[in-house]
Amino acid sequence: MMNANVSGLLNNQINKELYSAYLYLEFSNYYESRGLNGFANWFKIQAMEERDHAMLFYQYLQDNNEKVTLEAIDKPTSNFKSDDEPLKAALEHEKYVTSLINNIYSAAYEVKDFRTMQFLDWFIKEQGEEETNANDLITKMELFGSDPKGLYMVNSELASRVYSPPSLTL
Ligand code: FEO
Repeated sequence: MMNANVSGLLNNQINKELYSAYLYLEFSNYYESRGLNGFANWFKIQAMEERDHAMLFYQYLQDNNEKVTLEAIDKPTSNFKSDDEPLKAALEHEKYVTSLINNIYSAAYEVKDFRTMQFLDWFIKEQGEEETNANDLITKMELFGSDPKGLYMVNSELASRVYSPPSLTL
């Protein structure tokens, strides 16, 4: 039987990851409306990855005989005034998600739930990568975003991102 606090936090993470997917779909939507299809593509794929993260938490709970409770997903932030705003919001959001994952890890550690700690190891590494990616996008925008040719190149690069399923399987 899983500790109730750990299982509650894992359950809550399903909602947080689905919200992340929703948030990034909204970012994609914003860039699509700006004609920046590469940025739109990048965030659409990011949304797919977040959905995958949610499914991993969902599956992990079910595999451990814990009942999943699905809650309403919040309306994502929108109404951006400049093209760099979603990028900065993405970095802040990923830092927040990192804090949530760390919090679950800490709860699992407290009750010696080694299985959950091992499951979360993948997410700890993944959060490091996601923060790096978010930071890189901000840097690219700062370096090249104010020059139309530079922005075109960055947009073209982001258009080439393709979806690949998570390396973690349960
Ligand atoms: Fe699933 Fe971007 O954290």
